[in-house]
Amino acid sequence: MPDPTITDSSVDAARDDALAAIAASTTLTELRAARTAHAGEASALAQFNASLKTVAPDQRAAAGKLVGQARARVAEALSSREAELAVAEETARLASEAVDVTAVATRWRSGARHPLSLLMEQMADIFIGMGWEVAEGPELENEWFNFDALNMDEDHPARGTQDTFFIDPIESHLLLRTQTSPVQVRSLLDRPLPVYVVSPGKVFRKDELDATHTPVFHQLEGIAIDKGLTMAHLRGTLEHLARAMFGDGAEIRLRPNYFPFTEPSAEMDVWQPNAKGGARWVEWGGCGMVNPNVLRAAGIDPEVYQGFAFGMGIERTLQFRNEMNDMRDMVEGDVRFSQQFGMVV
Ligand code: PHE
Repeated sequence: MPDPTITDSSVDAARDDALAAIAASTTLTELRAARTAHAGEASALAQFNASLKTVAPDQRAAAGKLVGQARARVAEALSSREAELAVAEETARLASEAVDVTAVATRWRSGARHPLSLLMEQMADIFIGMGWEVAEGPELENEWFNFDALNMDEDHPARGTQDTFFIDPIESHLLLRTQTSPVQVRSLLDRPLPVYVVSPGKVFRKDELDATHTPVFHQLEGIAIDKGLTMAHLRGTLEHLARAMFGDGAEIRLRPNYFPFTEPSAEMDVWQPNAKGGARWVEWGGCGMVNPNVLRAAGIDPEVYQGFAFGMGIERTLQFRNEMNDMRDMVEGDVRFSQQFGMVV
């Protein structure tokens, strides 16, 4: 409790305490606390003021002047410190909110769609133009769809663990599909006949990544099942695809081959008229007339319905179509690779 007696020294001490607290305040919040303590109703100076009425009348004027001057000094110190702190706080706030309008903006690099996706879509579109449908199948496939239903029996070499990624446990009969051909069978089971379907998608084989191989790649498979389809329809369809992709001078050449799910089967080459080093034949994919055993596996009577199927690798197509030497560029995911194709998102 301050000395309630009004003397020069007690009033000066109260005033000096107040001035010290005001000077020590570094924020408006602290200054508000100093104001309450040293100029509020419970402060020493307010109590001196209140006790003036008890001072002897002959000394009241002098005491009143002493207390009044001290209070005025404190009030003045409060208001000038308040002005100072308000300016300082405003300046700090403005500095923290400053925006440098000359700063270089952060720009996100725009991406590019991968040339493989674009090529797959472009190829599928050519078929859509002929009235075909696009079908997709699972990448994690049942062994039966990937092999058995495609007439690849138990001891077919492609089933070997050397080529195929089987899923643990082996009794689950699941694998990463090694070809898009299982979608042939799925399409036949799912859809009413006739069926004209292409299925683009990812496939998996235990290959090392090198200039011409990648363990994950893409294929486009096609299957057509209708009454009276022949190898001439197969050839005409592939020729249309080749011309849409490589120009009017493109041609298709079929060489006898073997696939378990087609009979007869052929290796398909394309005449690429506008290749950089000059026109050339390039090996492109496999094809053939769908094996009656595959039709039977899908519950279709091969005496009534026939058809053809074909499949080709998308990476390989991109490679010879765009003269790319190294397939690894396609899998590295560097946006600069995609941007060379001038393809925006
Ligand atoms: N699935 C075959 C492969 O991956 C390609 C093919 C598809 C062959 C359709 C004939 C018919 O090699």
